[in-house]
Amino acid sequence: MLKIINVVGARPNFMKVAPIVEAMRRRADEFAPLVVHTGQHYDAAMSDTFFRDLQLPAPDIHLEVGSGSHAAQTALVMQRFEPILLAEKPDWVIVVGDVNSTLACALVCAKLGVRVAHVEAGLRSRDRTMPEEVNRVLTDQISDLLLTPSRDADENLRREGIPAERIRCVGNVMIDSLRANLERAVNSDVRNRFKVAAADYAVVTLHRPSNVDDEVVLKRIFSALDRIAGRLPVIFPVHPRTRASLEQFRASEIQNADQTTARSQIKLIEPLGYLDFLRLYSGARLVLTDSGGIQEETTWLGIPCLTLRENTERPITIEMGTNKLVGTDAEAITREAFAALEHSTASAPRPQIPLWDGRAAPRVLEALLEASKS
Ligand code: UD1
Repeated sequence: MLKIINVVGARPNFMKVAPIVEAMRRRADEFAPLVVHTGQHYDAAMSDTFFRDLQLPAPDIHLEVGSGSHAAQTALVMQRFEPILLAEKPDWVIVVGDVNSTLACALVCAKLGVRVAHVEAGLRSRDRTMPEEVNRVLTDQISDLLLTPSRDADENLRREGIPAERIRCVGNVMIDSLRANLERAVNSDVRNRFKVAAADYAVVTLHRPSNVDDEVVLKRIFSALDRIAGRLPVIFPVHPRTRASLEQFRASEIQNADQTTARSQIKLIEPLGYLDFLRLYSGARLVLTDSGGIQEETTWLGIPCLTLRENTERPITIEMGTNKLVGTDAEAITREAFAALEHSTASAPRPQIPLWDGRAAPRVLEALLEASKS
């Protein structure tokens, strides 16, 4: 029997951990899973609704860390996770993704000699100004088992000198959640609530510090969104970080967008739960985002995505032809959006990516069992 601590901290972790915990509960004679929530994200809309939507059991332990500077947040997670690890003595800790909680918990494990597996290992944007890239590189260096979503990630790890025996390509656990919930999401009334018809609206999400903390960049992006909204409704669930910037900058470009005015069709709404958001983006004609996960989810569904960044740690989404990097220049965003709208009326055929097949979580379990023998 393997005792496993599954760490979740922030919104993008929940959909990655849910299928792993579910797979472990189905094999209760081999796995005893615990869920530890660091509390990096704590709002109902950023955290609680995801437990309900994803049928993820309530956390066994909550560290209630909350917001703070990177150093303060990372340090507090470490400080509060250490006694849990000493008391629980798990065989493995699983960390996912690239948030501050991921690195903090992996580092505590490395120092205490507890084995740690990193799910979604090996992704690289090669942009060290992104906090997530620092978290990815460091977490991979100190983890015992690196579970990757695709072959390009294996290659990145090998180039950084990580021995092949620590690397296993298991596929994309986030796609497990997407596939498992696509049918359930049909019951969401989100499109009625925001009065949009399938394949006749765009969805926007933004939360990267480089896009939303900088007034000039954020205004540039909004001027592009305003023009796109002249063509079709734009639904924009606003991340708390972005909401704080909007309030701080109070720009007229942005105020025009808030609420639905006659001039603009940009609807700024509260963050959505997993099922509502899945229902929303899966019916969109176009998605504009700076998120990592949404680039992958749109790729799997064959929905055109424009990524408002200069780089991506998920190059496979570009190779598949669904995703395009457009940066943050207003002209470029508008031009590419109009081009994408011209070429698409509905979603394209779904690209086939090896191991994005809804069976990544069982492969995570197999990898843990195998690595436990050594
Ligand atoms: C974090 C992750 C990022 C991930 C994103 C998804 C890091 C470094 N960044 O970014 O990788 O893509 O989550 O959402 O770990 N806030 C709330 N309520 C919440 C959570 C946050 O109001 O429930 C506010 C806080 O005041 C905070 C700000 O949002 O100052 C940012 O939160 P933080 O966890 O620091 O980073 P994110 O930008 O959310």
